[in-house]
Amino acid sequence: MQSGITWKGLAIFCASVGLAGLWIGNMPSDNGAVFPLPHGRTLVNECGGCHTVYAPGLLPARSWRKMLAELDKHFGKDVSVLEPVRLALLKDLEDMAADGAFADLRLRRIAGAVPVDAMPLRITETRYFKFLHDEVPPRYWRHKAIASAANCVACHPRANEGRYGEREIQLPQQEAR
Ligand code: HEC
Ligand code: HEC
Repeated sequence: MQSGITWKGLAIFCASVGLAGLWIGNMPSDNGAVFPLPHGRTLVNECGGCHTVYAPGLLPARSWRKMLAELDKHFGKDVSVLEPVRLALLKDLEDMAADGAFADLRLRRIAGAVPVDAMPLRITETRYFKFLHDEVPPRYWRHKAIASAANCVACHPRANEGRYGEREIQLPQQEAR
């Protein structure tokens, strides 16, 4: 009885699977770099006036709880909001946090990289952030158009939509000295 698969057919099949793998592997995929933002405008309105609208998935829930418990002393500013607004923000941030109810595997890895006894208030101080940016030349952090590593939107123009894909990164043209 003749087998249904021929060697030639098998070789072509293997080659195409291999090529498809390479192709997918080399595609600048942005899927790993899109962080969901809550529906509605509350986070954008209340937390996007002074800096990037940081996506909830960038920190674990305990960090957001701590931050929202001390809005009157937020990095030297009083950013207090009315209690119902605070509760609404808290719910979104907790739900969508790196270890929140809706977190996928990728976000859980981010959460897992934060030591259990740590409650970082700065994304920029997390191991996750440092790992992602360890190849960014130091002069960029000092560039006047950037001023702070927390200024995500200076290099990730769509950061306010939670988008950090590599294809969309823009480094300042003029280099810092
Ligand atoms: C009045 C201005 C102001 C408002 C409004 C504000 N922040 Fe901030 N926030 C700051 C300043 C100033 C810093 C420190 C920035 C720096 O060091 O570059 C900061 C830093 C942060 C950081 C740490 C960034 C990092 O990784 O270094 C987070 C997270 C943050 N804010 C979240 C929030 C959230 C959530 C809200 C809304 C509840 C909010 N902010 C509203 C002024 C503000
Ligand atoms: C000085 C410019 C600069 C700033 C500011 C900056 N980033 Fe980045 N970011 C980069 C560069 C460049 C890369 C790509 C690094 C690489 O591929 O080696 C990157 C990569 C990333 C990635 C991974 C993207 C991917 O495709 O997997 C994430 C997520 C990210 N940044 C988040 C942030 C967040 C959150 C902030 C603010 C708290 C921030 N970045 C601030 C330059 C910056």
